[in-house]
Amino acid sequence: MIDSHCHLDFKDFDKNRAEIINNALVAGVHTMVNIGADLQTSINSVKLAEQYDFIYATVGVHPHDAKTFNPEVEEQLRRMIEHKKVVAVGEIGLDYYRDLSPRNIQEKVFRRQLEIAVEKDLPVVIHTRESFRDAVDIVSDYAGDLPGGIFHCFPGTVDDAYKVIDLGFHISVGGVITFPGAKMATVAAEAPLNRIAIETDSPYLTPMPYRGKTNQPAYVKYVCDKIAELRGMPAEEVEKITDRNSQRVYRLVDVFGG
Ligand code: NI
Repeated sequence: MIDSHCHLDFKDFDKNRAEIINNALVAGVHTMVNIGADLQTSINSVKLAEQYDFIYATVGVHPHDAKTFNPEVEEQLRRMIEHKKVVAVGEIGLDYYRDLSPRNIQEKVFRRQLEIAVEKDLPVVIHTRESFRDAVDIVSDYAGDLPGGIFHCFPGTVDDAYKVIDLGFHISVGGVITFPGAKMATVAAEAPLNRIAIETDSPYLTPMPYRGKTNQPAYVKYVCDKIAELRGMPAEEVEKITDRNSQRVYRLVDVFGG
């Protein structure tokens, strides 16, 4: 299994990071993509990717931290992007739920990082919260020139899923689909499986039956199992297809051989 989106560098794991990574391997998670969210976590993601063969990194500034983006940060991100194990720009996007950075700044920084991704020919990892329409409108301006990407923790409907798929993107689903009555479960059940990646977003959004505890990549198994249950197919099949999808988006086979 592949955890297509986790934050193993976060301080939640300072006391047990090696153990958490080992748990994942034992659970059959052979690949993890550690996602940057600001300059420091991007630096930390690259460090983790240097330390572990099976961890890849993304670098970018999350909409919450858009106000920290400046030419110096951009310069450092650009330098990190040249690192072989940096597989995408992200997570970037818009968050109107918490509005931790002014919306006009969020948009400006989102567009700037999309431009960088186009220029560097990298896929993007997109975060949206209560901002899906605006995010899709903005991404549409760049989609033709981008090698795709992932709308992570996909917040939309099945129709919305087709919108981003038509733009050449994948969606990813996480622990939320295991919550009772989760709207995202419908998307996980009905969107084309060859465009769905699975993720944990560790340390957040812990799936059932561990909801309330700290999430970890080993728990991506519960996401895989839930999709299998929703779609009435074997978990092994879901695992194989979602693995292939993550490998395709992040170009893991082309660049790294697996
Ligand atoms: Ni995240």
